[in-house]
Formats: sequence, C-alpha cells, structure tokens
Amino acid sequence: MHHLRALMDLLSYVEEHHFYRSRCINLIASENITSGLVRKLLSTDLGHRYAIGFLYTRMYRGCRYVDLIEALTGYLLRSLFRAEHVNYVPISGTLANLIVVNALTKPGDSIMALSVMDGGHSSFRECSLVHGVSMVPLPFDQEAYNVDVDGAEKLIRRVKPKIVLLGASDILFPHPVRELMPVVKEEGGILAYDAAHVLGLIAGGRFQDPLREGADIVTGSTHKTFFGPQGGIILCKRDYSEAIDHSAWQLVNNHHINRVAALAVTTCEMQAFGASYADQVTKNAKRLAEALYDKGVKVICSDKNFTESHQVIIDVGRGRANGISNILEEANIIVNPMPMPWDRDEGEASGIRLGVQEVTRLGMKEDCMDEIAHLIADIVLSRRSPSEVRYSTESLADNYQKVYFCFDTDEEAYRYFRVEYLMKELKMQMQL
Ligand SMILES: Cc1ncc(COP(=O)(O)O)c(C=O)c1O
Repeated sequence: MHHLRALMDLLSYVEEHHFYRSRCINLIASENITSGLVRKLLSTDLGHRYAIGFLYTRMYRGCRYVDLIEALTGYLLRSLFRAEHVNYVPISGTLANLIVVNALTKPGDSIMALSVMDGGHSSFRECSLVHGVSMVPLPFDQEAYNVDVDGAEKLIRRVKPKIVLLGASDILFPHPVRELMPVVKEEGGILAYDAAHVLGLIAGGRFQDPLREGADIVTGSTHKTFFGPQGGIILCKRDYSEAIDHSAWQLVNNHHINRVAALAVTTCEMQAFGASYADQVTKNAKRLAEALYDKGVKVICSDKNFTESHQVIIDVGRGRANGISNILEEANIIVNPMPMPWDRDEGEASGIRLGVQEVTRLGMKEDCMDEIAHLIADIVLSRRSPSEVRYSTESLADNYQKVYFCFDTDEEAYRYFRVEYLMKELKMQMQL
C-alpha cells in the first residue's frame, strides 16, 4: 500500500505548495501566473497528442482541430506583435535561442551576446557551444547599465559575428537595436533580440519594440512578463521563416499542443488588457524602486530613474545577496540573488533582482509597492526579524488572491488545488 501513501503525500504537497505561495509575495522577475482559462486549456486532451510536421501537412492523422487551433494561434500572435512570421513550437525560451542558432549558423561561426556577469542568460553561451559556435561577449557599460555601443561596434567590425543577440536577464533599459543595426548589416550579420523577460511589455506597447526598430528576429519566453503558459516563441522577418521552422521541428518533436492553445488564450488576454497591464507593471516597478531608495536601500541606476522595465535591482553588498535572499524567503518574500558586473564571480553575488509583473497581475498598484518596499527594507537594513515581517507579508498577500487582466477575474490565483474532495473520492474507490 505504500504507493497509495505516496500518492496522498504527493497530492498534499501540491496543495500545500499552493497555500504556501498564496501567502507569499513573489518577486521572481521571470515568473507570472496564468488565468483560470489558460489553466483549463492546459489540462485538455490536446496535451496527450502529437502533431508532427507543418500546419495541414502532419505526419500523424487526427489533427483536423489541432490545425485550426494552430492556424488561429499563429494569426493571433502575428497580429499582436505585428510580425511577418511566428514560430510557437519551442517549449522554452532556451530552446527558442537554440533553434535560432541551429538554423542560422554553422559550426565554427561566432555569435555575440552579453555574458552572464553582465546580465546575459546562460543559454546564450550554452546554445552556441552545443552547435560548435563560439560566443564572444558584448562589451557592457556599467554606468549606463547597458550594452556599450561604441565598444560593440568596434568588436562587431573585428569579429564579424553571424548573429548579434541583444536582450538580457537583467534588463532595466531598452537595448541599442537601432544603434547597432547598421554595423551588424554592414558586416553581413543578423540582429536578434532575446525578449524572454520583456515580451509582455512589448506586447502591451510599454517597452522598445525590437521588430519596429529593425531587429531580424525576436526570441522569448511566454511566461514572464507575457503571462502565458511556460514556453518559448520566435518572431522573425519572412526571410528567416523557413530555416527557423525546419530547425524547430528538428529540435522539438513534441511541442505540447495544450500549451499552444493556452498561448492563444493569453494572446487574446494581451490584446484586450496588455496595454493597461504593461502600464501598471512599469509604474509599479518605478514606484518600488523609488520607495526602496527613499527608505535607504541601495537601488542601482538611481541617476537614470532606476528602471524602464518590470525589474528593479538592489545592491546589498559583495557576497551578501545569497544570505539576504534566504532571509527574505523566511519573511515569505521570494526573490533571487544575481551576480552583478562588478562582482568577482557568480558566487559573490551582490545583487537582488525584483520583478513586479506577478504582483501587478494580482491587482497590486503603487500603494502596495510602498508596502512591499517597507517589508524589504526592514529585512535588508535588519530593522525587523523575518518572522515579524512574514506576518505583514501574509496580511498583504491575503488581500490579493485573484487574477486580473483576463476575462475570468473571479478565479483564485493560487488556492484552487483542493485535495480534500479528491482524497474523499480516491479513498472510496480504493477502499482506504
Ligand atoms: C534573457 C533570457 N533568455 C532566455 C531565458 C530562458 O528562458 P526559459 O526559462 O523559458 O528557457 C531566460 C530565462 O530566464 C532569460 O532571462
């Protein structure tokens, strides 16, 4: 009978996770929560099926509705992003980057992107290595907290990379797409932009729009500021569509069609509510940064108004970010430590990255950002114990338990997985 015990344990762990997260303030910049409708689509029969091949020419039969769903998804995404082509096959942002590198480079080529210490994502380097391509780090200007345009121009002329990939995991300000486009083109390269973090802000029209600024390709995750199911996406000019679509099928055999349908729903939510959502996200980020700064926490880029994205970065001192993130966790404030460009290595992280997109989706506005800043400052400046702060965190979180910027705003954000009834039914069937 121990497998039944394990089953009960497992179900209650999932329920406890949901209750625990309903009592936390989640500030992980790469996460979000989905609407009830998106969750429902994720649990449909579509999640059991394959649709290998291209639209209307599948290897497996039985795809008549899958084709309709995917044709609609493609149309919705192309309209939202005003893109000539979209590929929604990658099941993560990392895979989207790998598909692009695989499609458009040969072993021995080089690409340029930011290094991890300067805010780039580890997938930039790993995707290149997997394909036998070398990654040359883009120069970074610590003062501007952005790509160093002059340095990058010189390096692009020297290295002549196949792909220059802008975008980052730590992204406070728009990246220099317009500025670098001419030199990339003169040297025969492709300008790509990894919008994993800012895709939802782009959709809402509240951040730079890389395609409008001339980028050839945009990759991204569909679950960070874009509040959809976990997955990846590639938007591109028509010239690259064939190579990218082929590469996608080579690398992703099984693209999770339930996720595609859920992504289509999120795209409708973005069409309807994206602008007001992105507006509130950027207002909240600025307010959180200002409030933290006013309370004495060192927020980076104070001379540049802190941020134009969903992120705020605080500097807690060399080697202290891990420890402080743990104490914040004890206070039910969930964050991640980040190595900063001025740290010696990743183990000495001094930065903590805060993202306001999930709390915004729960309906929080500027007044809540003041409260959150207060709680964080109490921990970072050691003014109150984590257990005292946790009490305040839980009271604040308790008032924000619904999902907004969607069509079904009555849905519980976290407390929807109830084992009690499930257990009763299971017990009857299994005569426990
Ligand atoms: C800039 C950037 N690109 C790619 C990724 C990878 O995204 P995913 O987790 O969807 O694979 C991340 C993850 O946070 C990221 O920050």
